Amino acid sequence: MDNWNKESWRDKPIRQQPIYPNIEKLNKVESELKKAPPLVFAGEVRNLAKSLAEVTRGKAFLLQGGDCAESFTEFGAVNIRDMFKVILQMAIVLTFAGGCPVVKVGRMGGQFAKPRSNDYEELDGVKLPSYRGDIINDIAFNAKARTPEPKRMLKAYNQSAATMNLLRAFARGGLADLREVHKWNLGFMKNSRLGEKYEKLAEQITQTLNFMEACGITSRNTPMLHETEIYTSHEALLLNYEEALTRQDSLTGDWYDCSAHLLWIGDRTREVDGAHVEFLRGVHNPIGIKAGPQIKTDELLRAVDKLNPNNNAGRINIIVRMGYDKIESLFPPLLKAFIKEGREILWSVDPMHGNTIKTSNNYKTRAFDSILSEVNSFFDIHRSEGTYAGGVHLEMTGQDVTECVGGAKAITEEGLKNRYETMCDPRLNADQALELAFLLADNLKKATKR
Ligand code: PEP
Ligand code: CO
Repeated sequence: MDNWNKESWRDKPIRQQPIYPNIEKLNKVESELKKAPPLVFAGEVRNLAKSLAEVTRGKAFLLQGGDCAESFTEFGAVNIRDMFKVILQMAIVLTFAGGCPVVKVGRMGGQFAKPRSNDYEELDGVKLPSYRGDIINDIAFNAKARTPEPKRMLKAYNQSAATMNLLRAFARGGLADLREVHKWNLGFMKNSRLGEKYEKLAEQITQTLNFMEACGITSRNTPMLHETEIYTSHEALLLNYEEALTRQDSLTGDWYDCSAHLLWIGDRTREVDGAHVEFLRGVHNPIGIKAGPQIKTDELLRAVDKLNPNNNAGRINIIVRMGYDKIESLFPPLLKAFIKEGREILWSVDPMHGNTIKTSNNYKTRAFDSILSEVNSFFDIHRSEGTYAGGVHLEMTGQDVTECVGGAKAITEEGLKNRYETMCDPRLNADQALELAFLLADNLKKATKR
């Protein structure tokens, strides 16, 4: 790799970074993290890349989801377990009803740093640095809380390690056993219309498993029936942290960012000659790039070529997030250009970030119908171009929060205040996420049949 090393990003222009007042402290934290064990392993990352290559070829589907921002205060086993359950539920709906293997990636175990539209926040005449995620500063509105604190990186690392540990245990230790699908249904959903729909599907799966067992296919001889694979991802925004967790694989000599399996570049930091593209071009993880409404086709092509000069399938995931009212005019020309240039792209849609609105009672929210509409348009556009809609990227939670309006239980603007708990953007609650999966499954069936 020409002129790349894990520090070469430091010579490039960079956006959306904190200004640490104490550089000595920052250096100390970075050296501590450099000695810390990796959170993910090169072999796992390569397995994910292989699976994503399958998605790129239209043979599987990518489900990526989790919090907008993980937080130190909300950290705990119940939240992790419920997020895992809802991801599994959605995956089972998509696999069974959509007839397609699902690659599961949680925005978990490292999704802490947030890009902000404004560097400062002003309240009652007081101006302070914006909150940039728990890995950087605290959300409380006072000068001490908002000062970037390097030690928060260590706390984020430790929380990520504990999260990964639990995810690995859940994936291997029985919670993911297909015989247990009924138990994945979250308590508060059991009596809802969707909970019942899910129960029906779970029943069908149980019958299928009984049939398979009678034919001699059991979880004793087929590990796939009682284990699953879940990968992690986050926005590679805070490059001090990402660099410190970058390791050289002893087997291949290649570099991997071992803070997560997949890293993405946000819509605000994707400039071709900037620090984020520079850093990520040298690591061998699969890379996501957000594509918002301002994206220019030639800029994106240049970034893709810099990140994936050999045009390997499974390396690049473009995450389209244009908004339900813009995708139909903005996405087709972009897609056509990439088809013409023959680039291997896994296209997925983030129907969250282009659809954020403010309510009259001042809540940042997203309407379920706009989210669904952007997803449907994404599938329609691919269908008419003859390409494959490979995945979704969602902000969601396993909890029964009230942050997005609409959905089967019809959360109203008035109802938002009941459980509005996000640290940053509004998330789909478990019910809304599952509903979206059922609606998506129909689209997926059509896409994979083609
Ligand atoms: C996000 O995914 O939380 C995010 C900030 O997205 P984007 O960069 O697309 O705005
Ligand atoms: Co967000």
